[in-house]
Amino acid sequence: MARLVVVSNRVAIPKAGARPGGLEVALRSALKRHPGIWFGWSGRAASKGLETKTIETDNISYVVTDLPKEDYDEYYNGFANRVLWPILHYRLDLAEFTRRDLSGYLRVNDHFADELQKVLLPDDVIWVHDYHFLPFAKALRERGHKDKIGFFLHIPFPPPEIVTALPHHERIITALCHYDLVGFQTEVDAANFARYLETECRYAGNREDGYNTGERHVRIGVFPVGVEVDAFNRMAQRSLRSSFVKDVLASLSGRAMIIGVDRLDYSKGIGFRLEAFERFLAGNPEWRNNVTYLQITPKSRSDIREYADMERSVSEYIGRINGTYGEASWTPIRYVNRAHSRLALAGLYRAAKAALVTPLRDGMNLVAKEYVASQDMEDPGVLILSRFAGAAIECKPALLVNPYDPDAVSASIRRALSMPLEERRARQSALMQALTANDIHDWPDKFLDALTGSGKFSRSAAASGEREVRSLVHASRRLPHQ
Ligand code: G6P
Repeated sequence: MARLVVVSNRVAIPKAGARPGGLEVALRSALKRHPGIWFGWSGRAASKGLETKTIETDNISYVVTDLPKEDYDEYYNGFANRVLWPILHYRLDLAEFTRRDLSGYLRVNDHFADELQKVLLPDDVIWVHDYHFLPFAKALRERGHKDKIGFFLHIPFPPPEIVTALPHHERIITALCHYDLVGFQTEVDAANFARYLETECRYAGNREDGYNTGERHVRIGVFPVGVEVDAFNRMAQRSLRSSFVKDVLASLSGRAMIIGVDRLDYSKGIGFRLEAFERFLAGNPEWRNNVTYLQITPKSRSDIREYADMERSVSEYIGRINGTYGEASWTPIRYVNRAHSRLALAGLYRAAKAALVTPLRDGMNLVAKEYVASQDMEDPGVLILSRFAGAAIECKPALLVNPYDPDAVSASIRRALSMPLEERRARQSALMQALTANDIHDWPDKFLDALTGSGKFSRSAAASGEREVRSLVHASRRLPHQ
């Protein structure tokens, strides 16, 4: 492989003092090995002085480009986050399509293709990430690019019955066929895309061998994103001794802690989760004043109306619950809008008796996996996990819940808080086995092998990765049941 070029909307340029996420670490290590470029948006939207900059650090070139304010609004706030994000998360009710936003999205993809074209060399392998760039390969092909381009979708891909509600899906979704390999988090997402190609496009082929569009051949793979299991566990042990975590624990005065960590996003199911916690307090008076629920929720995409509305409704709801059940010396829910370092989170995860990870729909959800990786194997906490998170496939031994059913979630909270040690250990060890088998460090290689290998080799490499995960899921079915 000549060079690896990673393309994503947000580019993780290393910052002094910041502790990068597992995905970032894994991508960076792949870029160092190959070596390469990380290309994307600079984070700057302005009306003048726009530029594309290159920052060289640690043998990686970070190439980032500014966007005109209007393009940024139409591409990021508009088509990507007001149309694709809700539809791909099964929320047709929240999608707000305009032709203007669609043309902004296409224009920005073209602009990025022009800028990337300037730094590409023959034989570069390009790996594009996420829903901001569905038509990016098509834009590059139109500029004459013939080498391998792979795509990985970090978020869900719903069934064709939902995807076809996207205006101009024939153009946007079908453009994915200009990639050589399209990767998904789960088999369900991959099968949905395959069915879209069969029923909507009528392309010849199948899920295993790929599809022929007439001009091109596109393959489909499953590459679930994992976490750095050992590093996270070590970090959690260290963090538990930090003054930050010690202070939080001291302030609980011996009460059990439940933790939730999510971006403030409607896909995370925070409203239903609060309802479940409210019912738990209502139905289990013996737990009042004995448990504190810490919800850490950094604000997100605040320029978009649905997100701004959510900011208001979530804080009002929490205020009502705290007003009803709180006492002068106890606040049932602590709500924090600030982002915390991964080190601080690891310690809080380890200290929490249970984690509530109840998205209504999620591509994977790494909080669930990081919570598991942080636990003390001798005295682990309990993961309460939505069945609609991609992570539920590998995390079957967690307490899997339907996030739309607050009574069931409330019962799971009660069960988690009173679960016997032996059962907690058995679940934890099965969970760790599944996570260790899919450590994030192998993830880039699995994808890139499948993208660059000869047809037969790459398919079997991708399939063996899938088989590994499937056999672990089967193994975990023998462990404590729901
Ligand atoms: C999800 C998406 C990412 C995105 C992140 C944060 O995880 O899959 O592509 O970067 O959310 O969202 P933001 O809009 O702040 O980049």
